[in-house]
Amino acid sequence: MRKKIVAGNWKMNLNLQEGVALATELKESLAAAKPNCDVVICTPFIHLAKVADVVDGTVIGLGAENCADKEKGAYTGEVSAAQVKSTGAQYVILGHSERRQYYGETAEILKEKVNLALANGLKVIFCIGEVLEEREAGKQNEVVGSQLADSLFDLTEEQLANIILAYEPVWAIGTGKTATAEQAEDMHAFIRGVIAGRFGEVAAENISILYGGSCKPSNAKEIFSKPDVDGGLIGGAALKCADFRGIIDAWN
Ligand code: PGA
Repeated sequence: MRKKIVAGNWKMNLNLQEGVALATELKESLAAAKPNCDVVICTPFIHLAKVADVVDGTVIGLGAENCADKEKGAYTGEVSAAQVKSTGAQYVILGHSERRQYYGETAEILKEKVNLALANGLKVIFCIGEVLEEREAGKQNEVVGSQLADSLFDLTEEQLANIILAYEPVWAIGTGKTATAEQAEDMHAFIRGVIAGRFGEVAAENISILYGGSCKPSNAKEIFSKPDVDGGLIGGAALKCADFRGIIDAWN
């Protein structure tokens, strides 16, 4: 059975003290009332080691928001998958549309990152999604299908078991414009079909596909109720414990 997951993506928000305080508050909230899904927080690199100490031994998984496409060496300012892993993190987000759009991350670069993350024992939350013009032109399936094929189709079925997908329509990220539950379900079912076509039905049944884009406590339950939606990747609403908790509780 595939996992239900609510993952937070803090992006470039919160200083170290604020991040530790938020992780501590979340830990206490989840200790008081156990979640009905896996919970992951993905933080800026600078938070990882300290937050790892906070959440250690609890139900909260920890991830980075990115890692380098090179193994090690003279790459000033980069952080490798091995370095991420050494903090105690178990996950890394790769292919977020903000990385693709603002930092020129191509399918080829993402392939390298995915391989290095998996080789270093990290689970990858791999993001895919179309921009508004692509949706308006009815090209969303074509775009998302290519994103999957171009970065993930060379993986083995064994490697795919450590991939979580996150469908994030770019027009819904941080805009307050959520995809409807039907739009999310249509795309998630399409994605599962693409995975089945390449990796087989069992792999497709087992992979978790999260929805991301203006997900909040008020809409999470409806979106998560769809058969192919296995949880959410949460940006803005992950920055307040009560909001994030509200989304986690959509699984209750
Ligand atoms: P949002 O971001 O929830 O703020 O729309 C989601 C994401 O980019 O992962």
